[in-house]
Amino acid sequence: MNHFHYRNGVLHAEDVSLARLAEEVGTPFYCYSTATLERHFRVLQEAVADLNATICFAIKANSNIAVIRTLAALGAGADVVSEGELRRALTAGVPPERIVFSGVGKTRRELELAVDSGILQINVESEPELEELNDVALSRGRRAVIGLRVNPDVDANTHAKITTGRKENKFGIEWTRAPEVLRRARGLPGIELASIAAHIGSQLTDLQPFRDAFRRLRDLVLMLKAEGAAPARLDLGGGLGVPYDDQPTPSPVDYAAAIRDNLGDLGCRLILEPGRMLVGNAGILVSRVIYVKEGATRSFVICDAAMNDLIRPAMYDAFHKILPVTEATPDAVLRPVDVVGPICESGDTFAKQRALPPLAKDDLIAFATAGAYGSAMSSTYNSRPLAPEVLVKADRFAVVRARPTYEEMLALESSPPWL
Ligand code: LLP
Repeated sequence: MNHFHYRNGVLHAEDVSLARLAEEVGTPFYCYSTATLERHFRVLQEAVADLNATICFAIKANSNIAVIRTLAALGAGADVVSEGELRRALTAGVPPERIVFSGVGKTRRELELAVDSGILQINVESEPELEELNDVALSRGRRAVIGLRVNPDVDANTHAKITTGRKENKFGIEWTRAPEVLRRARGLPGIELASIAAHIGSQLTDLQPFRDAFRRLRDLVLMLKAEGAAPARLDLGGGLGVPYDDQPTPSPVDYAAAIRDNLGDLGCRLILEPGRMLVGNAGILVSRVIYVKEGATRSFVICDAAMNDLIRPAMYDAFHKILPVTEATPDAVLRPVDVVGPICESGDTFAKQRALPPLAKDDLIAFATAGAYGSAMSSTYNSRPLAPEVLVKADRFAVVRARPTYEEMLALESSPPWL
């Protein structure tokens, strides 16, 4: 469910015409819908209302400060994975007591900042990190509040590049060693063990891997309880998939039921770290067709967005629906085309042999479900400026990240004295 729809034959974000936005902002640009962000957050919040859960938005999915602020205003916390993300979360007004710091490679400086900021918990992923954090905390006369991330070794049945809960993945403490490391953590003077955490992967379209992981977390909680050291919280990570195509994905209500059935009786406060399900369908990438080129064996629609703007198709073979901003007439004949960007490699392809209505030079198109891991993963490859981001609310819009000028892009570089 989202708030991008055709009105009078033109695709709108809520009440704002994307054709008009393209005139005002230029293409390519990302556009986010406040109503969709709010809806997704509320649907999840309602689904877990009886579960004593804190929803910490995984801001790696969309780290625009206005987007974070929109969700924070509804009560969302943040899951952050770097100093930059922590700074963003704090800048967007997320209270420190709703911030979780995840990631396998936090530097000492990041651990120091996390301890000094008084965040809810730092999710520790290895014994060397545990020792480093213990040391950081003691050097400040503090105890660091941690979650220990375990790797439950379940197959999330998702793309290999976004599977994180198998034992061959770099994440978390191997499940069979977790009891030992949990005990060790409890014994460290600079550490307060508050939580066990897991995150098994992203874009999960089946609940069974979640259930399997939850059972393993349950066993660990019961073990700690038996030792008189029940954790106050359980962090269940993110991962719930969204429909990119029209394939069904589990509803937040079913996801909540899987949590309730397996963990509901443990008396732990829960932390959820959803990224994609909050922002995926709340964003689109709008682009203009530069040329339509008839190749030897196929037709290419060459648009002004490229893999630097949205890398998911090139990186994960991801599917994004492509919508013409001007609605196709009912009798339009679809024909297969390759939709590509201007970058100098063949991987710069958004869709191969996609059946689309006729498109011509200067037409506008929109890549749907681009709100998660779209702009956040963009780069300036080929010296292309980062696409700006626009946030819409009803009939209003604001450019919430401007397109950098070429002067700004070049300003960080300088010539050495010998040139
Ligand atoms: N928590 C942790 C510790 C994570 O590593 C992630 C995502 C999340 C939460 C949020 O997961 P979500 O609810 O968004 O699935 N760039 C890839 C996705 C990478 C996900 C990385 N971790 C993509 O475009 O599909």
